Amino acid sequence: MEMALEVLLASLVGLLGLYILIYHNFIKGKTCQNETRLQGKTVLITGGNAGIGKATALDLARRGARVVLGCRDRERAEAAVQDIRRESGNKEVVFMSLDLGSLSSVRAFAEAFLRSEPRLDILINNAGVYCVGKSDDGFNAAFQVNHLAHFLLTHLLLDRLKQCAPSRVVAVSSFLYQLGRIDFQNIHLPVEGRLGAFKSYCNSKLANVLHVRELANRLQGTDVSCYALHPGSVHTKILRYFPGWIKSPSTVASWLFFRDATNGAQTSIYCATQEGIEKLSGCYFEDCRQKDLKPNARDPMLAKKLWEFSEKLLGLAS
Ligand SMILES: NC(=O)c1ccc[n+]([C@@H]2O[C@H](COP(=O)([O-])OP(=O)(O)OC[C@H]3O[C@@H](n4cnc5c(N)ncnc54)[C@H](OP(=O)(O)O)[C@@H]3O)[C@@H](O)[C@H]2O)c1
Repeated sequence: MEMALEVLLASLVGLLGLYILIYHNFIKGKTCQNETRLQGKTVLITGGNAGIGKATALDLARRGARVVLGCRDRERAEAAVQDIRRESGNKEVVFMSLDLGSLSSVRAFAEAFLRSEPRLDILINNAGVYCVGKSDDGFNAAFQVNHLAHFLLTHLLLDRLKQCAPSRVVAVSSFLYQLGRIDFQNIHLPVEGRLGAFKSYCNSKLANVLHVRELANRLQGTDVSCYALHPGSVHTKILRYFPGWIKSPSTVASWLFFRDATNGAQTSIYCATQEGIEKLSGCYFEDCRQKDLKPNARDPMLAKKLWEFSEKLLGLAS
């Protein structure tokens, strides 16, 4: 009996050791090593109240930046502001109302931001949803929140970024961009069903990568650089959008086999702060290093066409 207990205990310790080894070598990912300080700089991060966005905001606040969280829910955002102020010791963390599901909210946010914030040094387009349905403006909700609204926000804030150059735009995409497809007949139209949610998410994440690619072209010679990234597979609230039957088991699995939000924020922090990566403007990063894109995200004509299509949907085309 005692022997059996000893064997059981030894097996558990062995399993735990194996898990720690696997977590550190294959799950946790690389840590951003630089010690860049951000005193006097202003960072705007969309969806900074939860998950990867909140962990990124905390790190940048610790580096001394003024951090503006652009969030849709006042209560959740103010709780995050308090947490980040307390944990970073930086009082320059503020909330401004931004609902990416409504283009009029994006315009109102940009107006208020430009009125109240003299600087913008780092814009982090982080917020994202995995969902079906329609935005307030009648578009595919994931396409709007993940791509179109960020496209508009970046457009409206670009002059301020140029005035504060050297400055940066960071887009949190996903490795699922690889399964995305830009079909100009349908990408912006609402969909239903599980497959629809998955496809919309992948398409919107491909749009993030193509947006950054074309933005880099248009920003040549301005000292504003831009980067897209995959944060890794991260245990966050994004799983709340999954259907009930998959949510519970996958939440346990993701808790065990996905990295936590602090580790998931490292590539965002790297792209926002690493000196000397400006020559890689327009590129895609994973685990704090540049990674080659798959052919579907490397087509410059597709990036240009998506840019013009997005402008047309937003009424920005001249
Ligand atoms: N987790 C992963 O494994 C993973 C992998 C690849 C890429 N990503 C990307 O990482 C980014 C952050 O996701 P996460 O994993 O940290 O998920 P999360 O915990 O669900 O956080 C998403 C954030 O986006 C905000 N948001 C959603 N809809 C919004 C809207 N209409 N207007 C303004 N903000 C809105 C959320 O605000 P509320 O709290 O109000 O909902 C929340 O702050 C996303 O772009 C996601 O696609 C995540």
